[in-house]
Amino acid sequence: MKARPITTVKTVVTGIEDAGAGIKLFTLADPDRWELPPFKPGAHIDLHLPNGLVRTYSLCNEPADNARYFIAVKREAEGRGGSRALHDDIRIGDIIGVSLPRGGLETGPEIARHVFVAGGIGVTPFLSMARHLMQTDDVDFALHLIVREEIPFAAHLAPLIDADRVVVHRTSQRGRPDLASLVGEAGPQTMVSCCGPESMIDDFEQVTAAWPAANVHVERFVAPPPVIDPDAKPFTLSLARTGTEIQVRAGQTMLAALQEGGIDIATSCCGGICGACKVGWIEGKPVHRDRILSPYERERYLMVCVAGSDSERLVLDL
Ligand code: FES
Repeated sequence: MKARPITTVKTVVTGIEDAGAGIKLFTLADPDRWELPPFKPGAHIDLHLPNGLVRTYSLCNEPADNARYFIAVKREAEGRGGSRALHDDIRIGDIIGVSLPRGGLETGPEIARHVFVAGGIGVTPFLSMARHLMQTDDVDFALHLIVREEIPFAAHLAPLIDADRVVVHRTSQRGRPDLASLVGEAGPQTMVSCCGPESMIDDFEQVTAAWPAANVHVERFVAPPPVIDPDAKPFTLSLARTGTEIQVRAGQTMLAALQEGGIDIATSCCGGICGACKVGWIEGKPVHRDRILSPYERERYLMVCVAGSDSERLVLDL
């Protein structure tokens, strides 16, 4: 059976910078200094690390700067190993394969104001957007950065702090700020976004529960525990491009069934939060369990690492 190709771009590490609070900022460039594939503000890439791990990071630089990719990595001693490998093993000159950039934050003309709420390293998905919005006059934004004491990326954030576009809230001094007052009133032209610890995301989801789903965006670092569906039934995946049929056993993930069938699928989080395993679907009734696709996207795509099926047959665009 023919495997599905996974596209990566070869990059070289051209810079490693300490960015405070156990964070390193890596600069990746094309080995021959060609431009890198373009990206939208807030986009992600998967790093295919030399040790075989694949990990997803936000791009932090301004999208107009396509000579490099900046990614910020906090060393998580108890994490799954990706951040340790980057901090401890990767040196300037090392080659790293990266996926094409994907996703990004909504920048459509219907949005006139963005409010970003970030906890510590959770500022990374919003850095490129903030840098991008600084260059435009027609979209207002505020970035609320909640830290215990130390500001990550202090040197990079200084111009935004000086311009009063980033407001730093130090919890060591005043406790956690009231998120409801930070996000303000719901409005069709306002987009609110949050990235940070799970407790902060829970609070944010509560205060924005009445907002239109399309105006609320959440980024997670940690995938929620896998959903075990005791009533799960087996189903058939039909791959539209080849006519191949693959059986998914009760309780098995689509991802595992596809991999057993020899289909290569890009993965990173395996928990429905990174977007790496996004696949189009054509027929059937998928059960979406991801935390990343919008209601509109779910009409066309699913995440094979977590999605299930409510129909006996699901046709995928593979
Ligand atoms: S691998 Fe991250 S969403 Fe599926």
